[in-house]
Amino acid sequence: MNAVGQPISRVDGRLKTTGGARYTADIPLGGMVHAAIVYSTIASGRTVSIDSQAAEKAPGVLAVLTHSNMPRMNRVPWSHLRPQGQTYLPLQDDSIHYAGQPVALVIADTLDQATHAGTLIKVTYETHIPAVFDLRTANEDAVVPPQRMWPLSSSLGDADKAIADAAIKIEQTYTMPDRHHNPMEPHVTLAVWDDDGTLTLYDSTQMVVGTRKLASLVLGIPEEKINVVCEFLGGGFGGKSWSWPHTLLAALAAKVVNRPVRLQLTRAQMYSMAGHQAATVQTIALGAEHGGKLTGIRHDSLNPTSLFDDYVEYAAVASRHLWHASGGIATSHRVVHVNRNTPVVLRAPMEAQGHFALECAMDELAYATGIDPVELRLRNDTDTDPYSGRPFSTRALRECLTKGAARFGWDKRTPEPRSMRDGRYVVGQGVAAAIFTHWRWPGKAGVTLKGNGSALVEAAAHDIGTGTYTVMAQVAADALGLAPNRVAVRLGDTRLPESHPAIGSATVANATAAVMLAAQAVREKAIELALTGRDAPFVGAAPEDVIIADGRLALAKTNLNITYAELLARNGLSSVVGGGDYAPVEEVNGAKAIFSFSAVFAEVRVDPDLGLVRLNRFVGAYDAGRIINPKTARSQAIGGIIWGLGQALLEQSETDPASGQFINRNYSGYLVPTNADIPELNVLFVGGFDEEASPLGAKGLGELTAVSVAPAIANALYHATGKRIRDLPVTVEKLL
Ligand code: MOS
Repeated sequence: MNAVGQPISRVDGRLKTTGGARYTADIPLGGMVHAAIVYSTIASGRTVSIDSQAAEKAPGVLAVLTHSNMPRMNRVPWSHLRPQGQTYLPLQDDSIHYAGQPVALVIADTLDQATHAGTLIKVTYETHIPAVFDLRTANEDAVVPPQRMWPLSSSLGDADKAIADAAIKIEQTYTMPDRHHNPMEPHVTLAVWDDDGTLTLYDSTQMVVGTRKLASLVLGIPEEKINVVCEFLGGGFGGKSWSWPHTLLAALAAKVVNRPVRLQLTRAQMYSMAGHQAATVQTIALGAEHGGKLTGIRHDSLNPTSLFDDYVEYAAVASRHLWHASGGIATSHRVVHVNRNTPVVLRAPMEAQGHFALECAMDELAYATGIDPVELRLRNDTDTDPYSGRPFSTRALRECLTKGAARFGWDKRTPEPRSMRDGRYVVGQGVAAAIFTHWRWPGKAGVTLKGNGSALVEAAAHDIGTGTYTVMAQVAADALGLAPNRVAVRLGDTRLPESHPAIGSATVANATAAVMLAAQAVREKAIELALTGRDAPFVGAAPEDVIIADGRLALAKTNLNITYAELLARNGLSSVVGGGDYAPVEEVNGAKAIFSFSAVFAEVRVDPDLGLVRLNRFVGAYDAGRIINPKTARSQAIGGIIWGLGQALLEQSETDPASGQFINRNYSGYLVPTNADIPELNVLFVGGFDEEASPLGAKGLGELTAVSVAPAIANALYHATGKRIRDLPVTVEKLL
């Protein structure tokens, strides 16, 4: 029986639920000491003096590092796809560019000693008025940054003319706040230098390979002398996709005191030292015929970034690809530089913000034309990517919309706002569709077939918590003809075959494809041994006549068979190893446009007196190609929907306009959904094998499931209340 397609439970489930999984901060190192960061309370200016005398004399303190005595680091240019979260490296000069910027680092025997000594440091500042992001004035300071990833603007046809000439027009501005990742596991680095100058970083990261590269560039040591390890992550959400300064500070601190150093960010420090999602201000204009067919789309987005890096939240990209518009589509992105640390990707970056604007605007168009919102989307479906002109490899959006609607019972919806009730509550139902970028990245993997007939998969990829250990075992098991419990998987160590980061929902399609190739290479070697090896049991037979199941090779139409274990023993081998090197052409250079799709349906109830919102039920229909494991896939969808609910109703990081500081800085001040917020979530997969996307037929899934949850809920809230809220999160006061 094939393991792929089976709802296999997570192979690391027992380890995690029994406390056996070793997260980065759990790793004990002999002689380890602790570092604590002291950070700036102002957002702009410079440090005039840093008095560390009392701290240096405090119990247990080994060193106090400031810009005056910190070893120097190399500055590396910034890009969206480079491994560093921000280029500005703290403790290198006296300037202050954002609130929460590290200004001193204390290393002591215990964490309490380091933290206490940090409180004894007296910093005097020269304060400048910080540049902050203000929705009312943002446009005046907006600039078009250099292009470092996708083109910043696009224009197909004449969108503005098409909209101006259209029978029906929608033009609205949608705003979304800054948000923070808030993983349960804080960012932490353990740095240790060996006597031979090898640096090992145990780091809570989604990219061991990129962290090694960045540490090499910034610290000026060859990559071969650096190991980076991360076997388990307690959430990353994009915040651990890029490397942040604290990892580099830990490495240098360990060098200075010549001891292993652990540096763990406090919850508050995670708000200023490890990225966040930038707010966006998005303007959408739609032109359409009376029948609902789009004639033009214009989508412009603006986001704040730091003073030193041009992080672009590509929110308008969704509008380049999702719907057909006969007259043209235009998009643009600009940024505003403010006194902030650099933003980064967060839980479905780009698309999750962009679709809120686009799919709310589509709902507004549905009401302006009197066409059902599902039907409106079906009328604007397209088989060709409007942006590139290429056909989509697979696009089951129609099935997402129709099967999702059937599952939800959309036909019972009455379209008039406030027309559906449940006792004293008003009930609303909303829909939104989504398109999600499919990444094609190279990756390597190794598979070792052992003398006992079991196998080991190895790759410097990650299980971010979604089930990579499990699906890799399934894929290797099928390729080798083994039961999945005979396959072990090792991930998260740069000493393993190089792979890509756990970002972009790309791991199944890419890193796992490399595992399949490696396992196939081992299988071919084993068949070769059975045909031509020592005392070959199938001598003279054709390789394609060998069948392998349950670790046993058999020759078709004969009684001949041999187990892997016997085969290796007979050939005097302790193992057979194979490598997989998956090197796809980049998506943009392929013949087809590859994206994942979804349609999601939300039902809300609102207390008309109090404005309280509850999600009643939710249906998500997804085309993510072939599903490798329906159980882990469903769990990903549940997670994504919950993120989306947070985006819709709860999450916002607020800035003090005077000081430029993030105010929340704690779970008590930053709301995320809890169990009581989550009703039944109904998930269905409607996609099929996509051969362009991956040899496994899979497309990106994880973050797709977070996209368009917020517009579906906002559209449901309009249906329930008649109020169109275009500013996230939709809180009580906006509904009253
Ligand atoms: Mo995801 S925000 O691409 O780690």
